[in-house]
Formats: sequence, structure tokens, C-alpha cells
Amino acid sequence: MGAIVGKSSADAVKFLREGFPVALPTETVYGLAAPLSNIQAIESIYRLKERPANNPLIVHVLDFEQLDHVAYTSPLVKRLVNAFWPGPLTLVLPKKNTVPPQVTAQQASVAVRAPQAPLFREVLRLLGEPLVAPSANKFQQVSPTCAAHVLEGMGDVLQYILDGGSCKFGLESTILSLLDSDRPEILRYGPIGPKELESVLGSPVYLPRKQIWQDAEAKLSPGLFKKHYSPKTPLFLVNSLDSFELSERFFNKRCAYIHYRGENQGAHYALTTHDDIYEAANNLYALLQQLDAEHYDVLFAELAPSVGIGLAINDRLQRAGKFLSE
Ligand code: TXA
Ligand code: MG
Repeated sequence: MGAIVGKSSADAVKFLREGFPVALPTETVYGLAAPLSNIQAIESIYRLKERPANNPLIVHVLDFEQLDHVAYTSPLVKRLVNAFWPGPLTLVLPKKNTVPPQVTAQQASVAVRAPQAPLFREVLRLLGEPLVAPSANKFQQVSPTCAAHVLEGMGDVLQYILDGGSCKFGLESTILSLLDSDRPEILRYGPIGPKELESVLGSPVYLPRKQIWQDAEAKLSPGLFKKHYSPKTPLFLVNSLDSFELSERFFNKRCAYIHYRGENQGAHYALTTHDDIYEAANNLYALLQQLDAEHYDVLFAELAPSVGIGLAINDRLQRAGKFLSE
């Protein structure tokens, strides 16, 4: 029972036209998509994900022309689009009336990105309109980076999962707000780092404000709740596992260790074998899923280097767990 896992973009479009949300591969994580014009299908995304209605969705477009249809743009937006699209950069802009309020949780802004994954783009071309899509996981679960993860987490409530293999980045897109054009602000770290953005913006970019995570009523971007990307097993963070000594309270627990770099050995796992930060990002969610399935009592993870996509790795780790001293 459950969803069909297939490789046909034509089948994906058939289900979308019939009003069923479909799981589609992007270069970041798998998304659960519905056509922008189908409000019932958009509402069913919230139901299927068990996602609160105050958490807005990202609109996925093919190109600048489709962006222009849903949001107010500017020369600065055009520069960013030329530099980073198609790719893992989501822009928050003032919305046009073509976007139904259900998509943006009644906000006056809309988040938009143009995914790079060829299958997703093919579906957009065949459908001829933008697709609204959050990540294809239940609320507060780890985002899926391959079709098997979607099947495991949501297979019982979906009709079709388009299988595009493993996602290239394995972490959600960078979200940049341009609502205040004098103050471009990263709302969520992702594959495109602050330095890359600054080189195109030609001005400083503001970094995510930590208090957003802590404010459960945060209206700005409710998906940025601190507890958002969680494995089921408790996760503790340490700055480095090299000098880590297990305290007594964990002696009778089955512990696993997530190293940034190293070899996989027994209960020790590494995000990358040869200090490749993209490989580390790519392995993070899959490893958290794997460790959940292995039923450890406690996980310990060390932080990645705080540059580029490493900022996104550390951001997701900090949302998934807490520092031992906290
Ligand atoms: O890489 C990605 O962005 C993936 C793939 C599927 O494209 N999508 C994704 O969607 O991560 P989701 O729904 O899991 O996260 C969307 C984030 C949420 O944190 C939401 O609050 C924020 O985008 N967001 C959406 N619209 C917004 C808006 N108008 N203003 C501020 N934040 C917004
Ligand atoms: Mg998500």
C-alpha cells in the first residue's frame, strides 16, 4: 500500500493535474508540490505534512519571467537571479495578487526559488505554471534527501513520488529576504553562503537573527523555529569530539558519535572522509535518518567549520540538538 515511486515526469504531472500533491526531487531536498493555481491541493499539503497554517510555502518557478508573475522585482533581484538561478537560493519579495494567501500564510511577502534539478524543471515546463512546495517530510521531521526517505516518512499519504536519485546538496536552500532593499538578510543558511551573496550584492548581508529560533510565535518565518530539523534520538552538540569525555550520566546508554571528518568505525560516524564540506552537508540528513533507525539512546555531534555551507550544517545541527552545557 502507499505511493508509487516512479521516474516519469509525465506521470507526476498527471497526478498534479488531478489535484494530488506529488513528491519531487530538487537539488536541495525532496519537495511536496502542488500547482500554484490549485488551492485545494495547496491546503492538502498542510494536512498531509501536519504543518501549521501559519508557516508559509516556497513558490518554485522556472525562470525570471515566472518570478515576475508572482513577486515585485528590482534590478538587484535580477542580478541575484542571473548569478544563482537555477539553484539553491530562495528570495523573499513583496508578493503580487497572483499568489493565493494560503501559500504565504496571509503575509504580504512571498518566498520564491528556481530549482536546478532537471526532473523538477521538466515538471514545471510540462505543467506550465509555478509549483508550491515545502520539503516532503512531516512537520519537524528531517527533510528527505532521496525517494526512499520520502516513502518512509510520507508514503502512506501520497500517490506519487518522482525518483530523481539523491539530492545534490542535501540541505535546504539559502533564504534571503529583500523586503528591505537596504538590508538584505539571510533568514536561513543554505548551500549559498554569505560571502557569495555579498560578492553579487556588492554590500554586506545581514545574518540570521538567533532570537527568531527561540520565539515560538515568530511571525517572520515560522519555519525557522529552533526545533525544526529533528531526528527522533536526542542529539547533543560539542565543539569538537577530539577532546570529548563522556560524562557518567551516559555510561549506561548506547551512544553514537557524529564526527565532521574521519572514518566510519563502530559507533563513530563521519560526515566526510576527506574534509569535503559539500560531502558533509550531503550526508547529514541521511546519517541522522540512519542513526534513528539504529535505535541509539543518544547522539553526540561536533560542529563543522563555520564557512559557506558549513554554516548551514551547523545551523541544522543546532536546531536538531543542543549543546551539552545548555
Ligand atoms: O530547498 C528548499 O528550500 C526546499 C525545496 C523543496 O525547495 N524547500 C523547503 O521548504 O525547505 P520548507 O517549507 O521546508 O521551508 C520553507 C521555509 C520556511 O522556513 C518558511 O517559514 C520560509 O521558507 N518562508 C516561506 N515563505 C516565507 C516568507 N514569505 N517570508 C519568510 N519566510 C518564508
Ligand atoms: Mg521543511
